[in-house]
Amino acid sequence: ERTLWLSRHGESTYNRVNRIGGDPPLTPMGAKYARAMNAFIQNQVVPPHLDPDVDAEEIELRRKNLHVWTSTLQRALSSVESFEDGNWHTMHFKVLGEIFAGICEDMTYEEIERTYPDIWAARQKNKLLFRYPGPGGESYSDVIERLKPIIVELERMEDDLLIVTHQVVMRTLLAYFCNIPLEEMPTMTVPLHTLYKVTPKPYGAEVQVYQWDA
Ligand code: F6P
Repeated sequence: ERTLWLSRHGESTYNRVNRIGGDPPLTPMGAKYARAMNAFIQNQVVPPHLDPDVDAEEIELRRKNLHVWTSTLQRALSSVESFEDGNWHTMHFKVLGEIFAGICEDMTYEEIERTYPDIWAARQKNKLLFRYPGPGGESYSDVIERLKPIIVELERMEDDLLIVTHQVVMRTLLAYFCNIPLEEMPTMTVPLHTLYKVTPKPYGAEVQVYQWDA
């Protein structure tokens, strides 16, 4: 039995003001969540009863059994900082990045609605298939497509895994593991400062949810 830990990054300066995309840093609250979530997982992997002097080998084995994956965006990288002390196996993938909103990147939802009412309306109509206009603009469907190789890889791996990523990627991964219908997926609630512990089972998955103050 293996464990998949899934979380969005800690609160970013954009989250505060409903601004989408971009590459903003964490807020102090976001950094606080990152530290608490990292410590929580590290404690589960290496329980405090293990003594670094006596159980060094066991501790190393347990650390090796956890892989930490994030996107390459600043807010995700900063959300696993405590895993970057050389003792853990971390990797950063561009494909784990947030949906790219094309010409709407870095705008607030209010600005999009006001500036591009047609884009706003089209998105409300079909959030799954709506592709943001502009170079590199994506739809939910496009994100699902680019995540397929990552899902194949994480199904193949037998080790435990922590993935720190973004709202749309979280919705995709949770929908995949929990068999949530595609139509419901784009509006699923996946709050900040919430850690999902997913234990895949032959049919479906067991999910435990841990929340910190947002
Ligand atoms: O607001 C945070 C964010 O991750 C944005 O970067 C992204 O565009 C958005 O969430 C996706 O959520 P929704 O599809 O509901 O707009």
